[in-house]
Amino acid sequence: MIAIGCDHAGYEFKREVINHLTEKGYEIMDLGCNGESCDYPLIAEEVAENVINKKCDKGILICGTGIGMSIAANKIHGVRAALCSDYFSAKYTRLHNDANIMCMGARTIGIGLALELVDVFLETEFEGGRHQRRIDLISNMENK
Ligand code: RB5
Repeated sequence: MIAIGCDHAGYEFKREVINHLTEKGYEIMDLGCNGESCDYPLIAEEVAENVINKKCDKGILICGTGIGMSIAANKIHGVRAALCSDYFSAKYTRLHNDANIMCMGARTIGIGLALELVDVFLETEFEGGRHQRRIDLISNMENK
């Protein structure tokens, strides 16, 4: 199950991402908004909580820049939300950071690239090894 959320700036993008993922066979939990003006931190919190409580495997958040969503999602314990606007980062944030949420900016990238980023993010596994040690160091910071 993939959790997805957006604010008003990301709504059209979210619809395209949902169509794309549904066609590929993913199950989607759509946590809003529905196009109305809204406050992105509330949506980020919903998506983050559904990822952390394991109702969803990964999360996708879309706002105008992706920045507000990533700042907000990263406030939730255990979230590693990565703002991505290039293919390499979307791939390596899975390989090296074990990112569990990807954020995108609907006003900064095109939908074609966004769908490629979603695909590589969802299809790439964490490498583990030395990277696990670094994730553990981040977890230690959260637990202070
Ligand atoms: C909404 O206008 C905009 O501020 C929001 O979508 C996002 O870009 C915030 O980071």
